Amino acid sequence: MERILVTGGTGYIGSHTIIELYKKGYEIDVLDNLFNSKITVLDKIKEICGKKPGFYKIDLCDFDAMNDLFKKNKYDLVMHFAGLKAVGESVEKPLKYYENNVGGTINLLKCMQENGVNKIIFSSSATVYGDQSVSKFDETLQTGVGITNPYGETKHIIEEMLKDVAESDPKFEAVILRYFNPVGNHPSGLLGEDPNDIPNNLMPIIMKVSRGEIAELSVYGDDYPTEDGSGVRDYIHVVDLAKGHVAAIEHMKPGVLIYNLGTGKGTSVFEMIAAFEEAGKKKLPYKVVGRRAGDLAEMYADPTKAKEELGWETELTVGDAMRDTIRYLNSL
Ligand code: WQD
Repeated sequence: MERILVTGGTGYIGSHTIIELYKKGYEIDVLDNLFNSKITVLDKIKEICGKKPGFYKIDLCDFDAMNDLFKKNKYDLVMHFAGLKAVGESVEKPLKYYENNVGGTINLLKCMQENGVNKIIFSSSATVYGDQSVSKFDETLQTGVGITNPYGETKHIIEEMLKDVAESDPKFEAVILRYFNPVGNHPSGLLGEDPNDIPNNLMPIIMKVSRGEIAELSVYGDDYPTEDGSGVRDYIHVVDLAKGHVAAIEHMKPGVLIYNLGTGKGTSVFEMIAAFEEAGKKKLPYKVVGRRAGDLAEMYADPTKAKEELGWETELTVGDAMRDTIRYLNSL
């Protein structure tokens, strides 16, 4: 049976992906430094799947520790989720992001090369498209132009590294998955987005407002050229996103494959607030403030390529994500 090393496997997307990997019978180890996640996630995974991954508390920047892990375990594939992802923090502390995300991935790729592991699936982001003159993004668009933050730059640099490694090694197989906006939680209510850091993203902030940890949501602008004036994004349920990773494994081949993972539908901030209020049956306090620097008005995926080549498309809606989020909040 294939053995997979999941870096960042105690995180939000990594943990949900492990659930789907177990369904397909893969064996799993997790490498994580627990900087922005909790080890108790592994117990939740066991409660859901009946199996618990092996766990190694290792930092991507610790080459020797990571190489020792690869020497002692024969992995068939790496799923690489580990990385810092707070856009705002990346602007304040760019070197921390380049060292951790880019430097850490260089260490990972060197460990893979030195130990004969030739397959990687990389957790990338639609942020690599930067600011383009379109709202609907497909994989033919140029990347790396007009990226507004170091976080996005690190994702772009890692994508370029993977392409260069594939050029240098005909045995190397990589799939780059560009996420749009992951939301929602496992329907069991046991797993959820529960970052240790101060969240940047809309949904974890909405969750903190609903728990009273933040007084009200600040809506960053209602004067965008969109239907209701608020920003529009492509919110993809994390379970659909996780299934996209399984589909990717099943279609790997030498070289680099690149896919957008999104619903193909745009949803505004005001629509997200309304959907959360509908699911939770209570009002969410918010106020409209100025636009956030670097924000695009509208951004959603063209998911055609993933459907045609991976046979994957989203099945869940924003409404499903809100209901799963409420269930998770009620379990806390
Ligand atoms: C969504 C919308 C905001 C917070 C992120 C990053 C990165 C990526 C996901 C993985 C926008 C509005 C937000 C708030 C608000 N993840 N908003 N008030 O901006 O699409 O970017 O995408 O790579 O984390 O690139 O996501 O959740 O920050 O914002 O009004 O307090 O919600 O203006 O329109 P975004 P987001």
